[in-house]
Amino acid sequence: MDKQSVVSAYRRVAGFYDRVFGPFFAHGQRTTVEAMDCRPGHRVLEVGVGTGSSLPRYPDGVDVVGIDVSPEMLDKAQTRADSLPNDIAIRQLDAQALDYADDSFDKVVAMYVVSVTPDPKSLVDEMKRVCKPDGELFIVNHFSASSGAMAAVERALEPLSKVVGWRPSFPMDEFLRETNLEVTDTRPVNAFGYWTLLQARNTT
Ligand SMILES: C[S@@+](CC[C@H](N)C(=O)[O-])C[C@H]1O[C@@H](n2cnc3c(N)ncnc32)[C@H](O)[C@@H]1O
Repeated sequence: MDKQSVVSAYRRVAGFYDRVFGPFFAHGQRTTVEAMDCRPGHRVLEVGVGTGSSLPRYPDGVDVVGIDVSPEMLDKAQTRADSLPNDIAIRQLDAQALDYADDSFDKVVAMYVVSVTPDPKSLVDEMKRVCKPDGELFIVNHFSASSGAMAAVERALEPLSKVVGWRPSFPMDEFLRETNLEVTDTRPVNAFGYWTLLQARNTT
């Protein structure tokens, strides 16, 4: 999977993303933004903001920057941002190579993004770098089983990742080992708890 596959995949789905995925992802977005406990004056970076369906959930007075690689998804996010009272900046930017200075944000969040991006480790490294020391990182993702029948099915689907634009096989233990995140809380979200919210303290 490379950046161009991601951009192509989301060009195809941008028109129906909210209708099809919105209802599935709403619980995870609501739970995440509540867990972020944002206060007026906080500066938040949302990476892979997509169509911006999470943006109305941020409390008044919170400054949000939403970035994404897909121009078609960002067009929708910009329309949403324009209708909201918060100070929201929408930018086309690769989360694996951010142009923000170190320690720029109080909280950095990635919902349904890490297994979609070509290099999850560099994405998390960038999230850590731009987050203030002792700031917080929030990641929502589906993590695959590391063993058993489901793991075998998810591994078998791996060759399709370029077409579908995400990685079917994505075990949490490997992800945490690679990224060295200091996780402070995990909770299941969305239908059947199929996705997981990871909350982590920024220690680097
Ligand atoms: C499944 S969508 C999730 C969108 C949104 N976070 C939500 O909750 O609906 C994944 C998004 O991540 C974006 N994305 C993937 N890799 C990215 C990267 N390296 N930098 C920025 N955005 C990326 C895609 O373009 C897409 O809009």
